[in-house]
Amino acid sequence: RREPLVLGIESSCDETGVGIVRGRELLANEVASSMDEHAIFGGVVPEIAARAHADAIVPTIAAALETAGVTLDELDAIAVTQGPGLAGALMVGTAAAKALHVATGIPLYAVNHLVGHVAADVLRDDVGQLELPAVALLVSGGHTSLLHVRDLVDDVELLGETIDDAAGEAFDKVARLLRLPYPGGPEIDKAAAGGDPRAIRFPRGLTKPKDLEKHRYDFSFSGLKTAVARWVEAREDAGEPVPVADVAASFREAVADVLTAKAVAACTELGVPRLVLGGGVAANARVRELAEERCAAAGIELRIPPLRLCTDNGAMIAAVGAMLFAAGKPPARLDFAADSTLP
Ligand code: KG4
Ligand code: ZN
Repeated sequence: RREPLVLGIESSCDETGVGIVRGRELLANEVASSMDEHAIFGGVVPEIAARAHADAIVPTIAAALETAGVTLDELDAIAVTQGPGLAGALMVGTAAAKALHVATGIPLYAVNHLVGHVAADVLRDDVGQLELPAVALLVSGGHTSLLHVRDLVDDVELLGETIDDAAGEAFDKVARLLRLPYPGGPEIDKAAAGGDPRAIRFPRGLTKPKDLEKHRYDFSFSGLKTAVARWVEAREDAGEPVPVADVAASFREAVADVLTAKAVAACTELGVPRLVLGGGVAANARVRELAEERCAAAGIELRIPPLRLCTDNGAMIAAVGAMLFAAGKPPARLDFAADSTLP
């Protein structure tokens, strides 16, 4: 049987992504980012993101079709991110997808962005296929979630998530404090390489026994961010230079420690033998290193897709669309709405 040919549209944050897959085969993955336009604000500005999507959506769809060498009428399905994400940004993608559907009659599927992040792993051709069940740790500027994935179509359970800032957001805020440019994650990663991760003991959020009772698999990074701010301010008030490399390394260590400790604990406690990472923070050198060490020690298979599949993209949405289509799931009704808080 021929695998379904699916075009996927992603517009939940600052990336306009359009991907085309045939089943688990990646044919195109075009991404236009408005990141540079947000840089001077130190974070994504929703209105700017939505306008940038409106400008980029049609050219990005055209580019993906061109790269894949397919025409619209050949598609078996169209898939689009329904949420979660920025409302105005999501509306551009869903409106474009509905327009394509109305014009062509091709069935349209609404996809959960986080499920898309996990599905990105099935598009890899560098390692063996993803087996399930798996635990997924999704860490970006917009989300920090731990999922128990038994089936990508029917059975994804949220184990925990951040109760305040996303991990990438914490990187961006701490970078700002250290006067490093946006996006802060890669900058802190670079600065940390020359620092001592044990120089300062920053707090690990939600790891005390009483916090674990209620928040076993949840995360919290706002206390950590405040601790870094206090520490830096105290130095500055005392007229002493801020040891940027040590602060960056100690902060990065605190984030990598909690993320990987909770993810590996979830695998062990649920008896799940593999962990999938996704989101921009999966690029972090220390997160990768600690995840590798701890997974190896616990006998867990660690899967980290290449960065272009880890960060927001349309191909991962197309991959979920292909699964929904192949499973015979009913397409979305035309009146489905973008949902910024989709669970
Ligand atoms: O997945 P992504 O490209 O977009 C969304 O936020 O959805 O993730 C971007 C986030 C930013 O917060 C950025 O600072 C962070 O990922 N990031 C990193 C690294 N590279 C990107 N954080 C830590 N270390 C990195 N190397
Ligand atoms: Zn994302």
